[in-house]
Amino acid sequence: MKKFLALILALVMALSLVACGSESSGGSTAESAGGEGGGQKIGISMPTQSLERWNRDGSYLDEQFKSAGYETILTYSDNDTNRQVSDIQNMIADGVDLLVVAAIDGEALNTVMNEAGEAGIPVIAYDRLIMNDNVSYYVSFDNYTVGTLQGQYVVDTLDLDNAAGPFNIEFTAGDPADNNAGYFFQGAVDVLQPYIDSGKLNVVSGQTDFDTVATAAWDSQTAMERAQNVLASYYADGTQVDVWLCSNDSTALGVAQAIESDYAGFNQPIITGQDGDEANLKNLVDGKQSMTVYKAVANEAVVTLDLAIAILEGTTVDEAFIEAAGWGFDCAYDTESYATSEGHNCPSLLLVPDVVTTDNMVEKLVDTGYYTQDADGYLHPAN
Ligand code: GAL
Repeated sequence: MKKFLALILALVMALSLVACGSESSGGSTAESAGGEGGGQKIGISMPTQSLERWNRDGSYLDEQFKSAGYETILTYSDNDTNRQVSDIQNMIADGVDLLVVAAIDGEALNTVMNEAGEAGIPVIAYDRLIMNDNVSYYVSFDNYTVGTLQGQYVVDTLDLDNAAGPFNIEFTAGDPADNNAGYFFQGAVDVLQPYIDSGKLNVVSGQTDFDTVATAAWDSQTAMERAQNVLASYYADGTQVDVWLCSNDSTALGVAQAIESDYAGFNQPIITGQDGDEANLKNLVDGKQSMTVYKAVANEAVVTLDLAIAILEGTTVDEAFIEAAGWGFDCAYDTESYATSEGHNCPSLLLVPDVVTTDNMVEKLVDTGYYTQDADGYLHPAN
């Protein structure tokens, strides 16, 4: 049965890749297959196909909702906010009953969120918060914890509490338009700041300000170019860089590339990441990246589906709802941490991210069925 489902999922993914070509929106509308959905329609708006994780999210969500009997419209908006607005407007015009939106820019969807509100369509902000009070719920991983895990990994690996140091560190953060990016960065900085203050960690470039180290659209090339500039300006004399704290895998990929091509030193710096993208898991095996914070997006899709059903059926969503769901993984109900506007908190369902290194890669990713492993040690998404 599992194999059959995996085959169906693979077919759906293959078909949607053919249909999408280069990020065409419009997606696929599947007829209801019966079950809970009863013909209700779900609009799923994903930011881009250029970053691996969103392809997985889109597929999982689409597949989950379809197998629960809902019709779906799935779009990817090529990291173009205007396009995401029109994709969502089309879904509203199409009469969707609920929207699941991973925003490209959390501040730029006001008009269309108001339109959804006027049409009485509930909105689940998926993974990234949208700054509009029409958002009903937020489903994500604990974003701040992603950053603290990265920071703590550095503390533990360098044994900062005991080692003499000092160690040199640089930072690469995410997209300022993405509400998550600040949380990731702050989580890491909060863990590392005491060591920076004591002089055990030394930011040679002096670049610690979020806007300075941020990476528009989480783009690998952009991250690589900034890293090359930093290396040329501050490390060309052979100064050793010990750590490059990267907020996610796409930026880590760019930084690893810059280290390979433009670094004068001989050591391999610690490079952090997030997402468990295939290329980065390869870099883990090859020793070019040290860790990634893994987020089981399949579970994020499960939470989103059950939440959507609850919203559509008018079931109360609270801690008891989460306990009763019996998901088999941790998810917190949090009404304090995220606000869509000043004083307007957004009830959030937050899953727990996990550190993956070469030491636990097989246990966390292969044994759980998310990835398969080749004889050469490289991992590939299982479906
Ligand atoms: C964040 C997301 C991360 C990462 C990043 C780049 O919003 O939470 O998992 O994928 O975007 O797309």
